[in-house]
Amino acid sequence: MRHRFHSICPYFAMFPETFVEKHLVASPHNGVVFDPFCGRGTTVFQSLLQGRDAAGSDLNPVAACISGAKCEPPERSEVKARLAELHQDFRNPCEIAFPDKFESFFELCFHRDTLRQLLYLRSMLDWRQRKDDRFIATLCLGALHGESHRSPNYFSNRMPRTISTKPNYSLRWWQRNGYMPPSRDVFKIVDRMIEYRFRSRPPDKTGDILQINVRHSGIEFPALTGRVTDIITSPPYLDTTNYREDQWLRSWFLGDEPLIPHDRGDDRHYSKELYWEFLRASWQGLNSLLAKQARFVIRVGGRHFQKTELRAGLLKSLKDGLRRNVQLIDDGVSSEILRTQANAFRGAKTSRLLEHDFCFEV
Ligand SMILES: C[S@@+](CC[C@H](N)C(=O)[O-])C[C@H]1O[C@@H](n2cnc3c(N)ncnc32)[C@H](O)[C@@H]1O
Repeated sequence: MRHRFHSICPYFAMFPETFVEKHLVASPHNGVVFDPFCGRGTTVFQSLLQGRDAAGSDLNPVAACISGAKCEPPERSEVKARLAELHQDFRNPCEIAFPDKFESFFELCFHRDTLRQLLYLRSMLDWRQRKDDRFIATLCLGALHGESHRSPNYFSNRMPRTISTKPNYSLRWWQRNGYMPPSRDVFKIVDRMIEYRFRSRPPDKTGDILQINVRHSGIEFPALTGRVTDIITSPPYLDTTNYREDQWLRSWFLGDEPLIPHDRGDDRHYSKELYWEFLRASWQGLNSLLAKQARFVIRVGGRHFQKTELRAGLLKSLKDGLRRNVQLIDDGVSSEILRTQANAFRGAKTSRLLEHDFCFEV
């Protein structure tokens, strides 16, 4: 049966655990598995389930929070006790400051009682320091927005669950269709979710997750120096999305200002030249972690790229970044990027986009 932590919170451009499982089984190595662009943490979590040592990182706080909660979870009893404590404290009279930016968005996104609970939790959850709070925060992130007319477990007015649509767009859409936010009891829903998620036993091993830039992997994971034998990862694709922007409402819940103008960083390169330089620097940042022999499994796609160009670009960026001998083992299984729920909400045109899985031995 599928482990119930896998689906704890969606993330844009996530890959399935079967992808990781297949490549772990095929790998001749048995050292640490590492994912420097871990997103919602599927590589690390699946590796732990398969008994491997694993770790990962991502620059995005939403990704770091979700992955950390899955790969280094608290005990079920600790989360239950913490939620009960927070709920008790919430019942005491307290002043809650409502957002002073995008007020009309928040008014129509959440029922006022639901928003009070969310604002309280947002101010109380110390998710960077406490494992129990990180788990509760992750459960909230997973329920924060979605198709609430179909499921009683989402807190928001109707929204896609993978990405948060922009405030003005959402507002216009809700107003045009007369959609109102549902009244949801956050504490009750989170409590039910703790029961549901912990019906799967967490893996015996845990894995470190850090919120860092891939370029600093070697410095930030000194304990892994020379121990990583399998990188299974999926970097941002060329000209495809901006993760920070796509996750703006979840980032807000974790403490960001709403919809901060975010420099797109490495999320969305438009120039091929800069994109390959980014990947070269990424592999260079990982170099000191690698064992004498290691395997890279890379799922990648993007607009404007043919498969042959991706293959050649990856090979060159690995050679230049690692300064090692690099051999292509698997030529790249190709699959179509499915028309996602997020695109359906955005009304995006269905152009055929492919992604490819390459495997290299270094
Ligand atoms: C294609 S997604 C990974 C999705 C992941 N495989 C999953 O299944 O959820 C690429 C990730 O790279 C992260 N990223 C972008 N620039 C980064 C950087 N400079 N360092 C580390 N992570 C970065 C993004 O935040 C995003 O989560």
